[in-house]
Amino acid sequence: MTTILSTQNIVDNKLEKLAKRVQKLKERTIRPKMKVVLVGENSASLVYVGIKEKTCKKLQCDFELLRLPHDVTRKEFLNEVDSMNNDPSIHGCFVQLPVPEHLQDIDVTSLINPEKDVDGFGGATIVDIYKGKTPFFLPCTPMGVLELLNHNQIEALGKRVVIIGKSLIVGRPLSLLLQNMGATVTVCHSKTQNLESHTLQADIIISAVGSPKFLTKDYFNKDLNQVVIDVGINRDHNGKLCGDVDFENVKNIVSAITPVPGGVGPLTVISLMENLVKSAERATKG
Ligand code: GUN
Repeated sequence: MTTILSTQNIVDNKLEKLAKRVQKLKERTIRPKMKVVLVGENSASLVYVGIKEKTCKKLQCDFELLRLPHDVTRKEFLNEVDSMNNDPSIHGCFVQLPVPEHLQDIDVTSLINPEKDVDGFGGATIVDIYKGKTPFFLPCTPMGVLELLNHNQIEALGKRVVIIGKSLIVGRPLSLLLQNMGATVTVCHSKTQNLESHTLQADIIISAVGSPKFLTKDYFNKDLNQVVIDVGINRDHNGKLCGDVDFENVKNIVSAITPVPGGVGPLTVISLMENLVKSAERATKG
């Protein structure tokens, strides 16, 4: 029997706990506040930012979105990030990625005040992870994946983990975190030859490719009781949300698999909220 690793229960539980922490802060007249800078009209970014705003509101946290035109000047963009970094009412902030091409040579994630880096993309976080230390803010999607494994008592220690995707947001930090937990990690990417030769030998496969139903059943080994974590959020040819994994055809040959939607995505947003509340709590301690 395959376990479908739905995350609704974990999310509800975490929301309840976070609401209590927000209430405690409120008693001390602190209301956690997140600010997001969004440049241009990227449709996926608009959806993601909308979800973050909704979750903030649900938890009675403040949310501010600054939308800048796609042709904003570098100077204006940098000024806005700077003022967000220095605004004492803001506990967590970030620039929603990607930014338009003329800003892409700016190391945007390094611009964010490390005290407010609730995305967990900045240098301080990465250096900690690289050194095997736990950073104050864990990057949100890797944090969600680790929570999912932990909640379902899926051990990483000694396991062969294959991650597909080497992005700074998911693949790279997650590979280090899993190594820190004692997993043997292989990071595959778009130039990897014979991808299936890696996935067919893995105990845990984590996909962050961003290509609808890219991983067909040929990539999985029915004899290994594999765990499949699908980080992809894509649309299929009918416009329906789907992951990187061909869920319908894979689900019966693996031991556990995350659905899309309803898998890693909601845990990523909850992780962001956990980082925001943690940041606001730290601020009350001065
Ligand atoms: N673009 C896609 N995912 C993310 C995210 O988690 N944070 C930011 N800042 N941009 C993104």
